[in-house]
Amino acid sequence: MRQSPRPVKNTPAIPYGRQSISSSDIKSVVSVLKSKWLTQGPAIPEFEATLASFCGAKFAVAVSSGTAALHLACRAAGLSRGDEAITTPLSFVATSNSVLFTGARPVFVDIDPNTLNIDAAEIERRITGKTKVILPVHFGGYSVNLKEISRIAKKRNLIVIEDGCHALGGRYKIDSKWYRVGSCSHSKACVFSFHPVKTMTTGEGGAITTNDESFYKMLVLLRTHGITKDPQKFQNPDMAFWYENHSKQVSPWYYEMQELGFNYRITDFQAALGLSQLHRVESWIKRRTKIAAFYDRAFAKLPGIVLRKNFPDSKPAHHIYILQLTSQARLSRVKLFAELLRRGIIPQVHYIPIHRQPYYQKLGYRKGDFPEVEKYYDQALTLPLFPAMKDSEVRYVVQTVLELLGR
Ligand SMILES: Cc1ncc(COP(=O)(O)O)c(C=O)c1O
Repeated sequence: MRQSPRPVKNTPAIPYGRQSISSSDIKSVVSVLKSKWLTQGPAIPEFEATLASFCGAKFAVAVSSGTAALHLACRAAGLSRGDEAITTPLSFVATSNSVLFTGARPVFVDIDPNTLNIDAAEIERRITGKTKVILPVHFGGYSVNLKEISRIAKKRNLIVIEDGCHALGGRYKIDSKWYRVGSCSHSKACVFSFHPVKTMTTGEGGAITTNDESFYKMLVLLRTHGITKDPQKFQNPDMAFWYENHSKQVSPWYYEMQELGFNYRITDFQAALGLSQLHRVESWIKRRTKIAAFYDRAFAKLPGIVLRKNFPDSKPAHHIYILQLTSQARLSRVKLFAELLRRGIIPQVHYIPIHRQPYYQKLGYRKGDFPEVEKYYDQALTLPLFPAMKDSEVRYVVQTVLELLGR
């Protein structure tokens, strides 16, 4: 990674996001490392049960990454060649790649510039006879319009899979009731990532939550090569069973591969880290919300700067803090990026619209297809926001941005 000068002598540069690791996290991981089980052991179901209850869902399946979680959810939804899934071009490439992995085609719907989330009002126009899934992203931790999306999905018999990779710990309100992102109150499934820049981490890792038992069972099967060891499900009785004095016995070594699955398992020491981290998510969201509010107040009057709006039906997880620089701003986005780097602040841009990636261009998606996301991309810059940020670092970011962009 590119080296930057420091904000204050001998202090490290401030990244846009970073994990928090405590001594209890380390203790939890070490205790699993000293145990019998490094993988496929008891820490995984314990983490899954705690995550499901945190989100308010019946089931959670922990896997090796958010990308693996998305892929499994798309497979369990039955996506395959010839199908279409509607999604947003404003996400990390993993979102629409997970559709491509299944052989299906992602159909992008532009963002609503007010929310930066998929424009729910546009979704219905893009539904065809091939559409099977709607895959919205809670971009930056701000909830999508699940009420409208689930209404469309019900009417057109489609499956909703939420990409909640930015949104663990966030909440949304539908008909005066608050729900946790991941509760799947208005969707089939919700996917999370535990990459270190996300709300909580397991190093690499991810999970899917759902309330649908058969969907859950398919996820579990696909996570481990499509293999089952459950005698109730065996399809080859002549191989699975033998008889002793007319009593049916199960061959103890026997397993069956019934689907083409993957090795997308998470390890037990990652699950132990996840479990330990999960207990602090609530306090981290509070800290993120406080920093975001401090930035909002400080930057409210900067000329040419658009800040993200919050809506009364969402309590965002504040995964990232975005400034949009219009032509009235004192510096261009690229100039501001360079000046921040020079001052020891490492910004980022979330994201390059997916349809503009060369691979997607080869698939036939074109520049100009989604004007709102392209306009947003030209203006966007992400500032540091993570719970372990010291107050002095937050103040330093504010002072620097005001110095660079104020009149
Ligand atoms: C919105 C979104 N979806 C999916 C992913 C993929 O998650 P992972 O990096 O854990 O595979 C990410 C990660 O950056 C993401 O931001």
